[in-house]
Amino acid sequence: MTGGAGFIGSHTVVELCEAGYTPIIVDNFSNSHPDVLKGIAAILEHEVKHYAIDCTDEAAVEAVFELEGPFFGIIHFAAYKAVGDSVKRPLAYYRNNLLSTEVLLHKMAAHNCHRLVFSSSCTVYGQPENLPVTEQTKFQPASSPYGYTKQVCEQMITDVVASKQSDFSAVLLRYFNPIGAHPSAEIGELPLGVPENLIPYITQTAAGKRAELIVFGNDYETLDGTCVRDYIHVVDLAKAHVAALEWVQNHNSTCEAFNLGTGNGNTVKEVIDAFTEATGVPVAHRIGKRREGDVVKIWASPLKAEKELGWKTSLSLKQALIDAWNWEKKLTK
Ligand code: WQD
Repeated sequence: MTGGAGFIGSHTVVELCEAGYTPIIVDNFSNSHPDVLKGIAAILEHEVKHYAIDCTDEAAVEAVFELEGPFFGIIHFAAYKAVGDSVKRPLAYYRNNLLSTEVLLHKMAAHNCHRLVFSSSCTVYGQPENLPVTEQTKFQPASSPYGYTKQVCEQMITDVVASKQSDFSAVLLRYFNPIGAHPSAEIGELPLGVPENLIPYITQTAAGKRAELIVFGNDYETLDGTCVRDYIHVVDLAKAHVAALEWVQNHNSTCEAFNLGTGNGNTVKEVIDAFTEATGVPVAHRIGKRREGDVVKIWASPLKAEKELGWKTSLSLKQALIDAWNWEKKLTK
């Protein structure tokens, strides 16, 4: 698992182990902390082997394949993933997100590893014309360099499958907005520095680490003027990866995309209010200007994953906010 010490990666390590797999974590800790490995070990009551390498480093990736292969499959999480940040530093996103995927595909072919689960994103859709989005929804031009890197990676993988160089198969998992934390509060979202994403910014503000949350615009064409997203509990999302790994084992020479969302949309304002209602803690906030790269509203049709992967979400927005708050309080101790 590349990026296995990240937010979604770490929760997926736990679910994979609990499903009987033995994952090997590869992570350069550029957007995660080695302490995450201790949290994973606390939940599992055993350590998970890891390699601190950069997935753009071809020799390092080769060494892991030689030392630890052959692999049942690869889950590729490693990428930069903040929409706003990608607008400020596009080249870092193009290099990290595209080159790591090319290196991995190249090494998978060289080592006869033919099963890939790819961490994609709803940002591949851009601002959809119709909602909810299905996997057949036509891509609009990406609204950020981040979203564009995910569109390009999906195309790279699709082309490798189509080249039929082997029975290589891939699943493209299009995440909506992952939030929350493991109920044990041993692992959760751990943004390094100032959080880009909404939920960690809310919990850090509630914990007094940030003075106030800036809501990036309330003049959009939505219920209350703030943007709409489909917020999915990270544990539900992690479980989808176990289902996807099973699915890709049983399908040769196939490249299939799945939306991973709840099917519901909530505005930023609704999320702030839901947090206070669920935890009793107020969140100081004010309206600021729009953030470049934001789409106005997007939420998933999750029916294909339900039908083909036998997976759907079971944890609520309220539960995700409570778990995120418990994790923040653990960090603040
Ligand atoms: C959500 C909403 C902001 C911060 C994320 C990931 C991306 C992808 C999709 C997985 C937006 C608003 C935020 C703040 C705010 N997931 N906001 N004040 O941009 O939808 O993308 O989910 O691949 O990787 O980054 O998530 O949490 O940044 O923003 O008002 O301080 O909250 O404008 O409407 P986003 P986000």
